[in-house]
Amino acid sequence: MAIDYQERIPNNVSLHDNRRLLRALEEWQPRFLQWWSDMGPEGFQARNVYLRTATSVDAQGWAHFDYVRMPEYRWGIFLAEPEANRTIGFGAHRGQPAWQDVPGEYRGTLRRLIVTQGDTEPASVEQQRQLGRTCPSLYDLRNLFQVNVEEGRHLWAMVYLLHAHFGRDGREEAEALLQRRSGDRDKPRILGAFNERTPDWLSFFMFTYFTDRDGKYQLASLAESGFDPLSRTCRFMLTEEAHHMFVGETGIGRVVQRTCELMREHQTEDVRRFGALDLATIQRYLNFHYSVSLDLFGGEVSTNAANFYTAGLKGRFDEGKKTDDHRLAEATYPVTQVDGERIVTRDEPALPALNERLRDDYIADCQRGVDRWNQVIRKHGIDASLRLPHRGFHRAIGSFAETRVSPDGAIVTQAEWDDRRVEWLPSDTDQAFVESLMVPIVERGKFASWIAPPARGINGNPVDFEYVRS
Ligand SMILES: [Fe+2]
Ligand SMILES: [Fe+2]
Repeated sequence: MAIDYQERIPNNVSLHDNRRLLRALEEWQPRFLQWWSDMGPEGFQARNVYLRTATSVDAQGWAHFDYVRMPEYRWGIFLAEPEANRTIGFGAHRGQPAWQDVPGEYRGTLRRLIVTQGDTEPASVEQQRQLGRTCPSLYDLRNLFQVNVEEGRHLWAMVYLLHAHFGRDGREEAEALLQRRSGDRDKPRILGAFNERTPDWLSFFMFTYFTDRDGKYQLASLAESGFDPLSRTCRFMLTEEAHHMFVGETGIGRVVQRTCELMREHQTEDVRRFGALDLATIQRYLNFHYSVSLDLFGGEVSTNAANFYTAGLKGRFDEGKKTDDHRLAEATYPVTQVDGERIVTRDEPALPALNERLRDDYIADCQRGVDRWNQVIRKHGIDASLRLPHRGFHRAIGSFAETRVSPDGAIVTQAEWDDRRVEWLPSDTDQAFVESLMVPIVERGKFASWIAPPARGINGNPVDFEYVRS
């Protein structure tokens, strides 16, 4: 399924056969571009950036790399190949043919799921729009912009579904997606983590590691959806999302590496005076971004989650690989929660515990990257490690929301929390220090003092390639 780039809106969904839909999207396009110029990367819109663009949706060679000015990026609509005779894999409709049109009874629910996912895409572009000014290298600058244009494309993906399948309501929602603003008090983005600031590159790498990974798990469970257009859209988005998490994982890995090099060279933990980030600060940023990302999965016990599943709208991660009955009416699942003064793990009915199951899959995935960062630390002969805090730490949603939990999982008093907060979460001093390191490095092949160069460049190019032209 090649993508037609002759069209004003590149697509592989035969848009030209549906004049009404084409016209609606062609009306939305200039408003999207206006939003991009208002809220996209500030100060770099006219620059030539070495970006990849999708050319086809199969796993092999979908990417084409070339210099592009971001406002001219070919955002479009790309769905993964249809699967012949696909059936619904779970819930009450298991075994029935997958829906090609929205089932009337689930219209409102499905629209809400799509809008909630769609809202995160422009939000992250807004959060990251100032970062170009303080890039640690041209290589990193290019990666930031790649992530940004792809989040823009993810917005297109969700807007296509809204326009194609939800009539007038869908068009209104597509409009509203361009109206909300990350962090705006009057018209905030829908989810908490997407209203936080991403003021510096340490936060950016943490965000792409932890928060984009939430995206991966949400998209993977929507890719199981009985609503086939949503499933196909999400399957293609996942291939793009993988790069965002790569940027996060390798970004933090390179920060850790630089820190360890300096620790070994100077035999000290205090590498701040050498213009680098100490492990304790990295740990505090990790604690923050991990905990706000855990909240994105919602409450531990949730009727919504049960309903989405039973309706066949949102499955589990790797639903197809599970060997149970894919209905879960009788099943249970262990849920860790607050019970009075204690934290307990209890079996709960599996259906309302689906958020927690997805969160568990996510946590296991997060741990793998932490293990790789710790290997970097060990390789330098340093006796220290980074770790994921307890799932109850610094939570604002669900069972832990009203309880203060330390990173190692002890319930603490408010007074103890207030005392130790600066040990556990980034303080104003930390933030001021991190910001002081954020000086732009735009010379080819040069890197900021606080981050090691990557092992290799992009698309076979050397590390000192001119990834963004001046
Ligand atoms: Fe995305
Ligand atoms: Fe992403």
